Amino acid sequence: MRITMIGTGYVGLVSGACFSDFGHDVICVDKDSAKIDGLHAGKMPIWEPGLDNLVKANVDRGRLHFTTDLAEGVKNAEAVFIAVGTPARRGDGHADLTFVYQAVRELAAHIKPGTVVVTKSTVPVGTGDQICAILEEEGATEISVASNPEFLREGAAIADFKHPDRIVVGAEDSHAEAVLKEIYRPLFLNRAPILITGRRTAELTKYAANAFLAVKISFINEIANLCEAVDADVQDVARGIGLDNRIGPKFLHAGPGYGGSCFPKDTLALLQTAEKAGIDQRIVRTTVEVNDARKGEMVDRIVKALGGDVAGKRIGLLGLAFKPNTDDMRDAPSIPIVEGLEKQGGKIVAFDPVAREHAEKLMPNVEFAGSPYAVAQGADALVVVTEWDEFRGIDLDRVAAAMAGKVLVDLRNVYDRAEAEGAGLHYWGMGRGKPSHPAG
Ligand code: UDX
Repeated sequence: MRITMIGTGYVGLVSGACFSDFGHDVICVDKDSAKIDGLHAGKMPIWEPGLDNLVKANVDRGRLHFTTDLAEGVKNAEAVFIAVGTPARRGDGHADLTFVYQAVRELAAHIKPGTVVVTKSTVPVGTGDQICAILEEEGATEISVASNPEFLREGAAIADFKHPDRIVVGAEDSHAEAVLKEIYRPLFLNRAPILITGRRTAELTKYAANAFLAVKISFINEIANLCEAVDADVQDVARGIGLDNRIGPKFLHAGPGYGGSCFPKDTLALLQTAEKAGIDQRIVRTTVEVNDARKGEMVDRIVKALGGDVAGKRIGLLGLAFKPNTDDMRDAPSIPIVEGLEKQGGKIVAFDPVAREHAEKLMPNVEFAGSPYAVAQGADALVVVTEWDEFRGIDLDRVAAAMAGKVLVDLRNVYDRAEAEGAGLHYWGMGRGKPSHPAG
């Protein structure tokens, strides 16, 4: 199949590279010439494990191309995927569809009858209908419009794309359905479940999936609060409920609240859709409130662990990205945590294996260190913010010896409490009983 991908952000670039790896002929289009020049030179605009090799292999085989020329990029396409950004609109949280509609207007004049235009970006219910209307307005005829939301996670994007739990296709005609089935045939043959639905249903499915996962996280975070108060262990509770197939074990890790480019934005956009439809989504609304409050609670927790006052204290942060295996800082819990602690006079020193460059722009007063041990040096408290694997194996005795204070606040439950205490540290986990500290 001849596929064009508009937008070389996370979803666009990974999807384009994976489609070409399936043997399709793929052109990725982006307005940003620096990005396209970089891709021609083998430089990835995002940090994602395995992506550079995948791109290189398919470029070398002549199946993956990059261009800034949209007209040229779409003119021979059998399917055009739209994977441009849909950020939350300032003020109301509604998904901003400016880039999506702009791309549709631009491509309308250049696509051939029979082309299938597919939204891969997360777009609110009814966006496909709007796209149909724009195409008609612009005089593009016999075009099918379909929805094919993407469920990949950052940091595991290629594996998620190639081994999806399911593929959702929202199509309103048999041609679009047939073209998308052909595109996904390699996964289909691998027995990945493919769900064919109406276009609006597919659009909503993506939001419902992200909102449900966000609910799970906020739920376990509230249970973690309760665990601390009643001296129970949230990790055991999560395992105890997760082994029930009706609940499932994933997305039950208590932490500093969800962040990233999807959950915060998509939960807000779902609430906007619901409000417009006159339907109150109380569970999602509360989930968002719980998650927003969580960030302030994390600051309070660190302040309390340091005896109620952080002024002049040196606080070491391990990890800044919103999750491991990415350099993405969008809506990272580290941002409000740093702001909150600095506001109270704390001095922050931090280490992140890959997000430093992005973090430096957002955190001008933070001192960046080159290793976890350098962060620990002279710190009054050490706080695990992101659960990078490389933090799991650090030598806690060495850390404790380097620190000025003895407080370890583990916002991701990376360490074993007994081991941390064995190293002489006061351990503050998340929902793992009362902290081993006089202030707890
Ligand atoms: C998410 C969805 O998983 C994916 O299907 C969708 O396409 C895009 O949004 P992503 O944002 O890349 O993917 O990361 P994910 O691994 O889902 O984590 C999201 C946030 O939830 C992170 O801040 C993470 O730390 C947090 N989280 C996740 C928890 O706090 N606890 C958990 O148990 C799981």
